Amino acid sequence: MAVYRPPEGRVSNPHVPLGERRDGPFYGKSIISVRQFSREDLDYVFGVAREMREMVSRIGSFDLLKGKILANLFYEPSTRTASSFYAAMERLGGSVIPINEVHYSSVSKGESLPDTIRTLECYADAIVLRHPQVGAAAQAVEVAKKPIINAGDGVGEHPTQALLDLFTVSSELERVDGLTITMLGDLKFGRTVHSLARLLALYDVRINFVSPDILRMPRELVAELEAHEVTLTEHDRLEPVLAETDVLYVTRVQKERFEDPAVYESVRGCYVITPETLRGAKERMIVMHPLPRVGEIAMAVDDDPRAAYFRQMENGMYVRMAVLAMVLGKA
Ligand code: NCD
Repeated sequence: MAVYRPPEGRVSNPHVPLGERRDGPFYGKSIISVRQFSREDLDYVFGVAREMREMVSRIGSFDLLKGKILANLFYEPSTRTASSFYAAMERLGGSVIPINEVHYSSVSKGESLPDTIRTLECYADAIVLRHPQVGAAAQAVEVAKKPIINAGDGVGEHPTQALLDLFTVSSELERVDGLTITMLGDLKFGRTVHSLARLLALYDVRINFVSPDILRMPRELVAELEAHEVTLTEHDRLEPVLAETDVLYVTRVQKERFEDPAVYESVRGCYVITPETLRGAKERMIVMHPLPRVGEIAMAVDDDPRAAYFRQMENGMYVRMAVLAMVLGKA
């Protein structure tokens, strides 16, 4: 079975306020990559997320993080990630400094990322960062004394998305080991599949990558997975692997990452999942998508009980509540 040895997480806040738990595995730590997580860590995160789901359905919000402040710093567009972190913090009784449109902040005056981080950590207890450059979150950690949570660094990683994706798989299908996961679409530029594939390497799964030739999973990542003995195959058509698939993870072609619009045009709309497609799929399987979708899944699929993407999106808030509670020391 594939086993990852997670590197030590970074402890970036040595000053523990009185009354907070210091023994949680993520207390005061930045979350930069899924490589920081072991299977035991994931069980822990998912256990807390389930408790959060239960608490929200029973009482809506509660004061676990009362008095804590989160800075939401987004250099790229976001609907779900930004608003689910915001809602997660508010439901835990904390508050948020939202910088969703950096053009209205001093970034537009030319302020550097390190200076912006140094500023926000004076006011906030943790910073959620989305940035177009690979490695931006790791760069922020170098200067930050408070935890940084990577909410997407260019085509690099999107660790909290992978956590909510895996939480969704295990909630929907009640296991991860033994499943066949098929990732479809833009595997080159899609950061969500980069993080999810790495997390899946901790389990005994089969992974199929389906993409146009120019959007294949990066070779280094395939080599990394193979080094961990992940069983994987690569295809350019969905048909050969659809019938065996338990989780069909569909992605958007990442238009904003293409240098040449003509190349984007050559691959846009390369796969479209329709009710007709799902006739060839198992009765008990799920279709996931990190969203936004721009035509990869026809709206007619939404009524199929196998369409799990809206439930997946809802899970994002519970998982981010768990992450915030753990990082800020109250889980
Ligand atoms: C994804 C992202 O930003 O990487 N969206 C998200 O966070 N739910 C996927 C995408 O933009 O295609």
